[in-house]
Amino acid sequence: MMATEDLFTPIHKGLRSMLYGLSGRLQTNDFADLAATTGLVTDLEYDFAVARSAGCILCTLNHHATDEESEIFPSVVKVESRLVPQLIEEHHELTRRELAIAQRAHALLALASKEERVDEGTRVNQDFNELFALYLTHMNREETELVPMMQRHFTDDQMVGMRSRIIGQMPPDRLFSILGWMLPSMNVTELATLLASVRRGAPPPFFQAVTKLCAEKVDAARWSEVSARIGL
Ligand SMILES: [Fe+2]
Ligand SMILES: [Fe+2]
Repeated sequence: MMATEDLFTPIHKGLRSMLYGLSGRLQTNDFADLAATTGLVTDLEYDFAVARSAGCILCTLNHHATDEESEIFPSVVKVESRLVPQLIEEHHELTRRELAIAQRAHALLALASKEERVDEGTRVNQDFNELFALYLTHMNREETELVPMMQRHFTDDQMVGMRSRIIGQMPPDRLFSILGWMLPSMNVTELATLLASVRRGAPPPFFQAVTKLCAEKVDAARWSEVSARIGL
């Protein structure tokens, strides 16, 4: 029987929501307003070069690529050698742009006049829009090419093992930060399946922490449907 696990789409749904939200903030931000702009830049690149904080948006994108390269791609390249080097090349391009945007956004905060900040803010927004388009295309490529290919070559157990290793290596603050984006981004069927598998496979306190996060983050109507389906 063909495998059905998908290691990419659920996390990508969370990343897409994160990018859509940031895109909305960027294009409505008043770059003349230094306090608002500082808040935006902080969320974008907070300690990007130094601490890789859990809440930093660019860090989250970067961590995601690293997780794929360390726990998924080495197995995939053994069964199909063409796609992975191309995806890694795309990761490098994305990282280069993320770093450039972080530096540019940070430098913007030091500009003396409102006019300069507004001009530079427009360019930061444009740079980000390009990154956004490339990141969406990259994720779609993983979902349309890599997911079906992995389902042909790996068993569900093997893919669950890859996901468990990724999750097992994440510091809890990072894990819950990304779950906070993922859970409200999934449909009821995906959420019910995920929670049922967490309840089966993870310690009860972790399951409770995840359901608590769902109650906070997931749209109320969707969450009550999911709770009913899994008998909470
Ligand atoms: Fe990727
Ligand atoms: Fe990805």
